Amino acid sequence: MFQYEMPTKVYFGKDCIAQSGDVLAQFGRKALLVTGRHSAKINGAQQAVTDKLDALGIEWVLFDEVESNPSIETVRRAAEVGRNEQVGCVIAIGGGSPMDAGKVIALLCTNDLDDTALFTGPYCPPLPIIAVPTTSGTGSEVTKVAVLTNPHAGTKQSVGSPLIFPKIAFVDPTFTVGVSRRVTIDTAIDALSHAVEGYLSTGSTPMSDVWAEEAMRFLGIHLDALDQELSYAVREDLMYASTLAGIVIAQTGTTLIHGMGYQLTYYKGLSHGRANGILFPAYMKLMEEAVPDKTAKIWELLDVSGLEEFTEIMKKLMPGTVDLTEEEIELYTKLTMPTSAVKRTSCEVTPDLVKQIYRSLKA
Ligand SMILES: [Fe+2]
Repeated sequence: MFQYEMPTKVYFGKDCIAQSGDVLAQFGRKALLVTGRHSAKINGAQQAVTDKLDALGIEWVLFDEVESNPSIETVRRAAEVGRNEQVGCVIAIGGGSPMDAGKVIALLCTNDLDDTALFTGPYCPPLPIIAVPTTSGTGSEVTKVAVLTNPHAGTKQSVGSPLIFPKIAFVDPTFTVGVSRRVTIDTAIDALSHAVEGYLSTGSTPMSDVWAEEAMRFLGIHLDALDQELSYAVREDLMYASTLAGIVIAQTGTTLIHGMGYQLTYYKGLSHGRANGILFPAYMKLMEEAVPDKTAKIWELLDVSGLEEFTEIMKKLMPGTVDLTEEEIELYTKLTMPTSAVKRTSCEVTPDLVKQIYRSLKA
């Protein structure tokens, strides 16, 4: 038995917001726009949304203070705005941070949750969530998870519930055209890790594998050229793959790479995609032994000869090393071990194994 759930209505392609008719009219007379400080204004996404809202006669109020790896304090402040303004929906525009923040803000507009209940639920239905991604990586526009920084737990932590699947995702590759090379690489590797981890997760299903293979195929074509100038057509492929990979992890969850990577982001400031990228080769080495058939299929889909070539590509895209002290390794391992990401990993994960992988990042 397996389940498949993907309730988000996806509009994909250039100008998809302008071409969405009156679909936004069903979510009330006022919307809360949630963005980071700058990028949604520069890449045209905010304008595309407000043009559509204005045309439909829907009022909007802007909260543009979402930081990278958003904090509980920020989402609470934004929810206060949403409640005071009596908005009918939350439109989250940006990369993973504004989209994840938007999901939690929508929950907090309809639920009174302390800092513990925020992560555990139970939840009443949130305000409807509309997601507009402006990077190709997180896949948050089609997932039921939001990741926040939780200082109480000393790491990044997830809010997860089918209730926070966005109602609508407007996925327009145009918004990613100006994304810097570094962010393009980091986010593409995040998307790749979603597809690969989902494919190798103990929670993978025949239906999630369909999307995972397709996502890998679209990412594999461009993997070696991510550090070069990218055409619109390539940006379109990356965004399509990223959304497919999001659909995958909405079914399967993520595994050891994400479980370990959160510590590198929280404590060492590595971007999410970069943290995943530097852990990727060690993970694939484990998977070659644990799940040889599927790993061989991954090499084929990515058009690489095997672990050695894949490791070379990752090192080229993610240069540098992470030098951790034994105390840091001890702490990160303690934080990683209880996560569901570890439980979904297709091999036995022991504290010694996790420590050994963290140590290997130095080399
Ligand atoms: Fe991720």
